[in-house]
Amino acid sequence: MTIAIDRTAATDAPILDVLAERFSTRVFDRNAVIDESALASALEAARWAPSANNTQPWRFIVTRRGTDAFAKVYESLRDFNKAWAGDASVLVVAVALTSTEDGSPMHYAQYDTGQAVAHFTVQAHAASLVTHQMGGFDRAAVKAAFDLPDNLAPLTVIAVGTLGSLEQISPEVLARESVPRTRRAITESVLLND
Ligand SMILES: Cc1cc2nc3c(=O)[nH]c(=O)nc-3n(C[C@H](O)[C@H](O)[C@H](O)COP(=O)(O)O)c2cc1C
Repeated sequence: MTIAIDRTAATDAPILDVLAERFSTRVFDRNAVIDESALASALEAARWAPSANNTQPWRFIVTRRGTDAFAKVYESLRDFNKAWAGDASVLVVAVALTSTEDGSPMHYAQYDTGQAVAHFTVQAHAASLVTHQMGGFDRAAVKAAFDLPDNLAPLTVIAVGTLGSLEQISPEVLARESVPRTRRAITESVLLND
């Protein structure tokens, strides 16, 4: 039996194919080695994200499956993410620089880092990689594992890799993967459209 789930967004207005087709998978090919040029392009897309006053507060810890660094990031994940994210080819920690060296707060650090990650994921999907961002991890463990100073705040872990086969995953993960992708109507998000 072949299991297939269409994850493409059913949009109310046309959007770029890559935006409609990007989705957060929990099914990674556990044998796939990262496409280095696609990963470099995803990081490059993050690099060219806009940021407040061009401060570029994003930092990334990039770890490949099989390395000690990958194991440290994987160990920091909450159990519900550990169930599938170890199959990713790469785990990237997105980190925000929250204050400058002289202690001035970087008010847009999280906003800008999120935008850089959005660029990263869209570029990755355009190159046939798949991604899944996770907030479910132990930030203190990541800070300790990579000796991060107080002004470097880990925000998310991004699993990156090649789409795997639904046949390889557990019934629990399959159930989560099968939940339809939905969004509320845009009219509920637009407060005013005069
Ligand atoms: C900041 C952030 C944190 C997230 N944390 C988790 C997580 O810990 N585990 C998980 O399975 N998905 C996580 N997700 C994925 C979201 O659940 C997912 O993006 C959302 O359901 C929409 O699905 P889509 O990305 O396929 O459109 C996270 C996404 C973001 C942006």
